[in-house]
Amino acid sequence: METRAGDPGAFAHFDLNRVDSPAFVVDAARLRANLSVLADIRDRAGIKILAALKAFSMWHVAPIIGEYLDGVCTSGLWEARLAAEHYTGEVATYCAAYTAEDLPEILRLSDHVIFNTPGQHARFATEIKAACESGNQFDIGIRINPLHAEGEVPRYDPCAPYSRLGCPVDQLTPDSLEGVSGLHFHSLCEQDFEPLERTWAAVKPHLAPYFNKLKWINFGGGHHVTRADYQREDLISFLRVVKAETGCEIYLEPGEAVALDAGILVGTVLDTLHNGMPLAVTDISATCHMPDVIEAPYRPAMLGELPIDEYEDAEGDAPVRLGGPSCLAGDVIGDYRMGVPCEPGARFAFLDQAHYSMVKTTTFNGVPLPSIWLWDSETDALECVKRFSWEDFRNRLS
Ligand SMILES: Cc1ncc(COP(=O)(O)O)c(C=O)c1O
Repeated sequence: METRAGDPGAFAHFDLNRVDSPAFVVDAARLRANLSVLADIRDRAGIKILAALKAFSMWHVAPIIGEYLDGVCTSGLWEARLAAEHYTGEVATYCAAYTAEDLPEILRLSDHVIFNTPGQHARFATEIKAACESGNQFDIGIRINPLHAEGEVPRYDPCAPYSRLGCPVDQLTPDSLEGVSGLHFHSLCEQDFEPLERTWAAVKPHLAPYFNKLKWINFGGGHHVTRADYQREDLISFLRVVKAETGCEIYLEPGEAVALDAGILVGTVLDTLHNGMPLAVTDISATCHMPDVIEAPYRPAMLGELPIDEYEDAEGDAPVRLGGPSCLAGDVIGDYRMGVPCEPGARFAFLDQAHYSMVKTTTFNGVPLPSIWLWDSETDALECVKRFSWEDFRNRLS
């Protein structure tokens, strides 16, 4: 998979020695810039936008997010608790399957509770009735599968064949929408406007009979709206039309777009060796710190890297294969021509690491977690938000 992000922005001028290694560094100014793009779309289209916590839940910056957006979307009880403790605005919770233990608290903490199937909604009728009787204010949504695949990679495509995510839209019936106020679909991943437009064209005929019964329709995430070349004006015109023709409140719940290009992961070369090509072991592990590098897979862009295709077989200038300190042979990040000599102690940074990296880290092999820093490229203020200790590692185990 090829990522279309990787703009260094103000990080081009950031001294990597100012922070620990490894460390995530988030630029508050870039975050605000992304959020103002989203707020502008929200205001001009007359819709609501929620930030997806699954992508970026650095709750230290929750007040910044709250200044711009309408709330957050969460993926279950723990993110809903995070929303309640730290974030402001509406909370929309969707989980592929709830448990009877978690649901009462989710119903208490959320404004919109979205079920994956009408069957699950019906099975929890008792819990829902009890929550209403105790005065909880929420409405119910159903996630649909538009049955219209736009994804590049099946693993990231909720409309791929046999997907468990959402009720196939052709199975919706008036009965299945009894007690339901909203419909939700999420089927895009880092995509432009046109895939959204085509998806809506595919689902609209199925949903039109229900428009007058619905309060809201949520178009999920995957909209790469804060990328400079995204077709924002087309999106705004489209959302206005959809809102008028459906009579519903329209929601978007982007995650990646909130934190796009707003963070880097700083690392250090620990050792070098040669085995058919130059190799380096670093304190950044693909498997522990950037698992999407292996899972997607993709190659993260490096700050200040030199193009590989201009490589000439000059001694000392060959691409170096960077890998992590873990025992996993496949803990490989990629091949790079670093902008600095690749030797022990050299600092480097991978770009666009604020989203889907910080939330996915693990301590496999006892590899330390990167500390988390907040920088403001407008004021140059730099703050260490969190350092993780050996005790954090031990306390997750037993
Ligand atoms: C239901 C739902 N909403 C929102 C998102 C956020 O998507 P993105 O971060 O690609 O914008 C996701 C991502 O997987 C999702 O599954």
